[in-house]
Order: sequence, then C-alpha cells, then structure tokens
Amino acid sequence: MPSKDRLAPFRADLDAIAAGGRTRRLIPRAGVDFASNDYIGLAGSLRLANAVRRALEEGVPVGAAGSRLLRGNTEWHEGFEEAAARFFGAESALMLGGGYQANVAVLATLPQRGDLLLMDDLSHASTREGARLTRAEVAEFRHNDAGHAGDVIRGWRAGGGRGAVWICVESLYSMDGDRAPLDDLAPLADREGFLVVDEAHATGVWGPDGRGLSYALEGRGNVVTLHTLGKALGGSGAVLTLPQVLRDFIVNRGRPFIFATAPSPLMAVAATEALAILKDEPERRDRLQDLIDLFAAELARRLPHLPPSGSQIVPLIVGAEAPTMRLAARLQAEGLDVRGIRPPTVPAGTCRLRVSLTLNASPADVTRLAEVLEDAWPNS
Ligand SMILES: Cc1ncc(COP(=O)(O)O)c(C=O)c1O
Repeated sequence: MPSKDRLAPFRADLDAIAAGGRTRRLIPRAGVDFASNDYIGLAGSLRLANAVRRALEEGVPVGAAGSRLLRGNTEWHEGFEEAAARFFGAESALMLGGGYQANVAVLATLPQRGDLLLMDDLSHASTREGARLTRAEVAEFRHNDAGHAGDVIRGWRAGGGRGAVWICVESLYSMDGDRAPLDDLAPLADREGFLVVDEAHATGVWGPDGRGLSYALEGRGNVVTLHTLGKALGGSGAVLTLPQVLRDFIVNRGRPFIFATAPSPLMAVAATEALAILKDEPERRDRLQDLIDLFAAELARRLPHLPPSGSQIVPLIVGAEAPTMRLAARLQAEGLDVRGIRPPTVPAGTCRLRVSLTLNASPADVTRLAEVLEDAWPNS
C-alpha cells in the first residue's frame, strides 16, 4: 500500500456527485424502449443481422487489425464509403469509429489558426470536445438563432478576425428534438466559410430516403456532414460526407483518424446494408411518423401545456431535478424505459424526460406512456 491513498481524490469526487444525487450507474435494459436512438428499429433487424452473418461466413474479418493507414483499410470500408458518398450525394465520405470521434476529428483538424469555430450553445459534448482541441478561436451563438450567429461573426470581423468561420450545428438536437435553421445558416456559411452539420439524430429518419435534414447541402464545397451509424442506422461508427480535399486533409492530418484502429469491417458491411434498407423500406419512416403523430395527439389531449417537438425526440421539461428523476422512476416502474436528463447534459433548471420514439415501441405502448404521464405528471 502506498502511504498516500492515491484513490482518495476520486472517491471524494464521487462522494460529491453522490451528495448532489447525481451518481450515474450502468443499469441493465428493461421495459419498453423509449430511450434508445434505434429510431427505425434496425439494431435488431433480421436483414441487418443476416448481412453481417453472410459477411462472417464469407470470411470478412471481425477486426480491422490496424489503423486505416496501417493495413486496417479494407475493401469493405472503401465499399461503404463509396456507397455513402453516392447515397448522401457528396463528393466523398470517410468512416470513423463513432460520432464522438468524428466530431473531434473534424474540429481538431479542419479549422485553422486564425479561423473562428462558431457553435450553437446547445452543441453536443463531442463538438465541445473538438472545440477544446481546435486551433481556431471559439465562440457560441444562441441556440438556433442565425441572426445572433451573424452578430457574433460581425463582432469577430470588427475585432480583426480574417479567417474562415466554421459554423457548427446539429440538424436535429439530441436533447430538444428541434431543428437547426439550415436555410438561414447556409447563406451565412457561403459568405463566411464553412457549415458543419451533425446529422446524428436525423440520418435515417428525415429527408428523402432518410438522407438527413441537410440533404440539399450535401456536395457543396463548404459543407461537412456527420452521419452516425449507431443511431437510426442500427450499428456503430460514423461517416463524414465532405469535399474530397477535406477528406484527404483528415487522412493526412487528422490525429483521431490516423492514430485509431479502423472500425470493424463488419460494421462497414452493416452500414452498407443499412443504407440499402433506408431506400428499400420507406415504411419504417412512415411508421415512425405515425408514432410521432400519435404521441403528439395524446399529449395535446392529456397534457396540453407540453409542446410537441415535431420529431421523434420529445423533451418533456419538468424543470427541477428531483421531480424529474421521480417521474422517470415511476415510468420505469411501470415498464416504460424513459430516462430523466439533468445537468450537465442539459442546462440547469431544464431537467426533462427525453422521450425517444422508436419502432421498438408499439402504438399501444405510446398510448400507455401518455396515460401514465398524465397520471404521474407533477401537479397535473
Ligand atoms: C449530436 C450527437 N453527435 C455525436 C454523437 C456521438 O456519436 P457516437 O455515439 O456515434 O459516438 C452523439 C451521440 O450521442 C450525438 O447525440
């Protein structure tokens, strides 16, 4: 035993978290799925499983066995990237191990010294992580306020900012379910620099064939789009769609890409199949839309003060932390897996239930969720 207890600071920090009632625990899956990002039910789909099974039988290796630059590059990664560039309508595509890694790779690599990385103030933790590593200056604009984004840029230019501006948004916000004003931000990006769109929660769900909400911007010389493969596409990983020169730049300069083992070739196979499913099975998106409409109608009838989000992510804002977590516990006790979300994931005072609608829940499950919510909602 070392004389000094080196684990003491960690215990003390965990004690502080516990004192605030914010200990996180990994719990087994239980109840009806109102918490995952498996929006169109692909994670457990037979077609995806069969594609992976066939691939295994044909000898596709489980592991890539190296970084893409050191023997980890396979025909399945390249095949998927070609399919993804075609599917999304981009000049090129680059697969990475996850959306978190992809955001960090983009933001740590592409914005240069003298540029401005300008992000929505509700940006995901992975965008913030990328912003910590970037060479560019960093600023934020008020959530979904393109006018404010313009003001921040004007202020930066007035202060001598000369470089390119990298405007970073999520097309559909993960904790709010609302959409970025892409129609206003794209012209701003055309004047000032680049637009980076994280489609994590829109890919596979929104846009023609599930191509995402920025489908009309794909292929432009100043747009980088991040599609995750671990949410609606049912596997894991991410793919960037972007101009060829920016792909080449990340391959040459992007440390999170260069110094990481390539994703499993099986995931490249799964993702290729998932894109085919998006084209072949539009009814999955139609059924999800029916669930969205049903939940909105049930809420309007039972808890009319709660606004619908217009997407498959429905935040039900409670406010304070304790009643939010009590409500989540009650729903879970009723077999409905809804999670309470609190700081630091969302701003203080906006604790919420994040209801995620997926094809893993039936219309009857959605109605039951609304019934229990009506019964259990604080002061309703
Ligand atoms: C908006 C957003 N971007 C990126 C990520 C990270 O993606 P991944 O889970 O593939 O690492 C997430 C995941 O929660 C997300 O919500």
